[in-house]
Amino acid sequence: MLNLDGKVALVSGAGSVGPGWGNGRATSILLARQDAKVFALDKNEEALNETIRVAKEENLEMEGLICDVTSGQEIQAAVKKCIDTFERLDILINNVGGSQPGGVEQLSEEDWDRQMDYNLRSVYLGCKYAMPYLKQQSSSAIVNVSSVAALRMMRSRTHAAYSASKYGLIALSRSIAVQNARAGVRCNTVIPGLMHTPIVEHRLVPQLGAENAARLLEERDSHIPLGKAGDGWDIAHAVLFLVSDEARHITATELLVDGGLTAAMA
Ligand SMILES: NC(=O)c1ccc[n+]([C@@H]2O[C@H](COP(=O)([O-])OP(=O)(O)OC[C@H]3O[C@@H](n4cnc5c(N)ncnc54)[C@H](O)[C@@H]3O)[C@@H](O)[C@H]2O)c1
Repeated sequence: MLNLDGKVALVSGAGSVGPGWGNGRATSILLARQDAKVFALDKNEEALNETIRVAKEENLEMEGLICDVTSGQEIQAAVKKCIDTFERLDILINNVGGSQPGGVEQLSEEDWDRQMDYNLRSVYLGCKYAMPYLKQQSSSAIVNVSSVAALRMMRSRTHAAYSASKYGLIALSRSIAVQNARAGVRCNTVIPGLMHTPIVEHRLVPQLGAENAARLLEERDSHIPLGKAGDGWDIAHAVLFLVSDEARHITATELLVDGGLTAAMA
């Protein structure tokens, strides 16, 4: 079940913003544990090297490249390097993204453009340059990583550009899925909820002015019907299912990994 033997996976944002397991690092390692050859991309050398170190420690097959996925040139070069290294491409995970808080009045035009580049254009670029190689296989799969911020608007915390770009990503995934289905390429979206990944300690605690991480996590957990935030491994397992042959009839859809958060707000 869920074995990826013989497949090559390209994962973006394969490091983590701080020590521990972000969504991209957990996904890279899990796909490799399931016997995929993983080509890992990150713009941060230290973060990328840590993921590769873990992979090598477990004798997993993984190579990496420093790459800023907001650059078409760099993505194109990364896809080429992946093909030169592993000779094929079956799986693409577009995992890079992040939020800048603020509503339309607070966000400058430059902030807006940066958010669109970071969360949406990066996904378009990954799909654009990987597609010719994905189409060469009889069955291949893309997973794009959105956010519950696309579906759930909070009066207390607005991030208009993040919400808009992550909602746009869902439409982009569906469009890609429908256009390329007959070519054997499936495309789906994973929608993480409030996760406990290193971003909580690294970015959210200072950004939200929280007393400490434990207090912030407790507050976030209180909104989640399952009672606790998920982590990077929960995202990785959802991604693994969607790229596996067991999900062969699943395309153009979204998998919410949010402990029931979205349903509870309805
Ligand atoms: N962590 C959460 O709670 C959460 C919740 C909802 C959605 N998400 C989404 O999940 C995805 C991953 O989030 P995370 O918190 O695990 O990631 P993260 O912030 O830990 O970042 C993962 C890696 O991406 C790399 N990166 C950043 N910009 C890059 C770029 N331009 N090019 C290449 N690499 C780049 C970073 O160096 C880092 O190593 C994002 O798309 C995010 O929006 C996360």
